[in-house]
Amino acid sequence: MHSNVTVVTHPVLQHSLTLLRDAASDTAAFRRHAAIAASFLLIEATRQLHTKSVQINTPLTGTTGDQLEERLVIVPVLRAGLALLPAAQTLLPDVPVGFLGLERDEHTAVAREYYHKFPNELSDYTAIILDPMLATGGSLQETIHAVMKRGCNQIILVCVVAAPEGIERVMATHPDAQLFTASIDSHLDERKFIVPGLGDFGDRYFGT
Ligand code: PRP
Ligand code: URA
Repeated sequence: MHSNVTVVTHPVLQHSLTLLRDAASDTAAFRRHAAIAASFLLIEATRQLHTKSVQINTPLTGTTGDQLEERLVIVPVLRAGLALLPAAQTLLPDVPVGFLGLERDEHTAVAREYYHKFPNELSDYTAIILDPMLATGGSLQETIHAVMKRGCNQIILVCVVAAPEGIERVMATHPDAQLFTASIDSHLDERKFIVPGLGDFGDRYFGT
């Protein structure tokens, strides 16, 4: 396995992953466990961020504390990445959010961009990219390209499930990206769906 790929094995996350995989889970259960999974993945994904020492005043006295040093931007890949956004905004309430809308063609599995909206200034930012499913890797490659073009120089990828094919593709072009996932699954099927996977994340999360 690549040294910059981390499989987060926390038992509560793995419990939620099992309920996400279960075809019997309804939309409400799927949303609940997507939120739990997102929190655990994001806590791990942000563990290696750097802090700097700052001087502050409590109501009683002056003291020092730690503050995040990196300039961060959160980038959910529409549509399914929106499922991970509430947890990211809870953990990082003052971090700006950029959006990229991508949709895989049903027949070719090639991602097509239909929307983007990014903060104006992203030079030397670290992008935390949220996309629950890393299948062929095409969507994440596009997203990494989009944020690097705007100046981001560090990439953190948060995916609930990843396929080996997608990991290889993304790491071949972006070997410095850090990937955090709850599972590396077996393979892609002929429709480029992850096996065993959990089906179409966006459809199950949004009830479509
Ligand atoms: C899904 C998923 C990823 C992408 C992964 O999106 O949410 O963004 O496929 O596949 P890839 O690694 O082969 O590119 P989809 O195109 O189904 O759109 P959606 O998020 O709107 O459901
Ligand atoms: N997108 C999904 O939602 N699921 C897959 O298995 C592959 C791509």
